Amino acid sequence: MTRRDVIETMVVTGASAGVGRAIAVAFGRRGCKVGLIARGRQGLESTRREIIRLGGEALVIEADVADPKAMFDAAARVESEFGPIDLWVNNAMVTVYGASVDLTPDEFHQVTKVSYLGQVHGTLAALRHMRPRNRGAIISIGSALAYRSIPFQAPYCAAKAATRGFIDSLRSELMNENSAITLTMVHLPAVNTPQFDWARNKFDRKAAPVPPIYQPEAIAEAVVRAAERAPREYWVGASAVKAIVAQMLMPSVADRILARAGIDNETSAEPETPNRPDNLFGAGRGDPGAHGRFDRQASPRVFPFNPAWLRAGLALGALAAGAALLTAAARAERRGSGGGPAIPPPVVARR
Ligand SMILES: NC(=O)c1ccc[n+]([C@@H]2O[C@H](COP(=O)([O-])OP(=O)(O)OC[C@H]3O[C@@H](n4cnc5c(N)ncnc54)[C@H](OP(=O)(O)O)[C@@H]3O)[C@@H](O)[C@H]2O)c1
Repeated sequence: MTRRDVIETMVVTGASAGVGRAIAVAFGRRGCKVGLIARGRQGLESTRREIIRLGGEALVIEADVADPKAMFDAAARVESEFGPIDLWVNNAMVTVYGASVDLTPDEFHQVTKVSYLGQVHGTLAALRHMRPRNRGAIISIGSALAYRSIPFQAPYCAAKAATRGFIDSLRSELMNENSAITLTMVHLPAVNTPQFDWARNKFDRKAAPVPPIYQPEAIAEAVVRAAERAPREYWVGASAVKAIVAQMLMPSVADRILARAGIDNETSAEPETPNRPDNLFGAGRGDPGAHGRFDRQASPRVFPFNPAWLRAGLALGALAAGAALLTAAARAERRGSGGGPAIPPPVVARR
């Protein structure tokens, strides 16, 4: 783990609402110059005002992450107005709640274009400026669902898993050219954001996060820590760690548990408003803010867990178990031979 240089200029995609907005504000509060990217101007302007009030600087860029040229142009604009981009955070997402068989191909394409290709476009745009300097950090906002898909959000889960595949390939490519640029994935638990009220929903009940739920500001602090330390990954919150480890150890048990829970896991009892507008193909209306409707259930603090610790723990455990086994075998050998060297039985020749 390396401690990063001071971050002066950073960019966040999906900065008009939810987690992205909280991340932008967290860096703005630390005096950073923040490039704010999303489609909805009202939300972006509101984020900008908050950052300026807290002592940072902000640049509003109305752009769609699904459009690669818009991302390259956005990066160039931030560089020309604010200077070298030290940190780029890919956070923008859309999803659709519904069974795969009820989704249209267009809906699959749109979620993939925004939630997966949006991360690719942002990363390529950042690298265009970071590679010549051989300096910078890119953080990709992931989810426990990048490891463990859940039902009724197939395109979103697939986009998160695809992003992980892309980032892992790219990490090795950067290492191959001895790059000092760091890539970090921050995999989140459930967060109290507007997502659940403006995402397209095919159910007749409102969408809801799977508890425990955390406030976006708690997640933003985990992202600040990721920017400072540049770990390979963070798994944020005990629920994310549990979901990922359970998937690694017993995926078919997890399949059955999720199948039995059905849509109850992802919806609340409140009825959905029929034909309400959503943000799948265009920005949501007005200024959504950072928080969703779960303030009372959401926790203000969360622990970012570095899975390298788990791997180190497992390696130490395996070493200790191996050493104990070797010692036990050696003891058994000594007991079997009465303490002296083992004498082979006499060879009896057959006649
Ligand atoms: N909330 C959770 O429970 C949860 C759990 C795990 C992981 N995450 C991750 O956290 C991140 C943020 O999620 P969230 O819950 O904060 O979502 P959210 O409340 O729905 O906010 C999504 C943000 O993305 C922007 N966006 C959507 N489509 C865009 C596009 N085509 N181009 C540019 N910006 C676009 C939205 O703004 P506009 O509509 O104005 O463009 C908004 O600013 C995502 O990466 C998500 O996967 C969230």
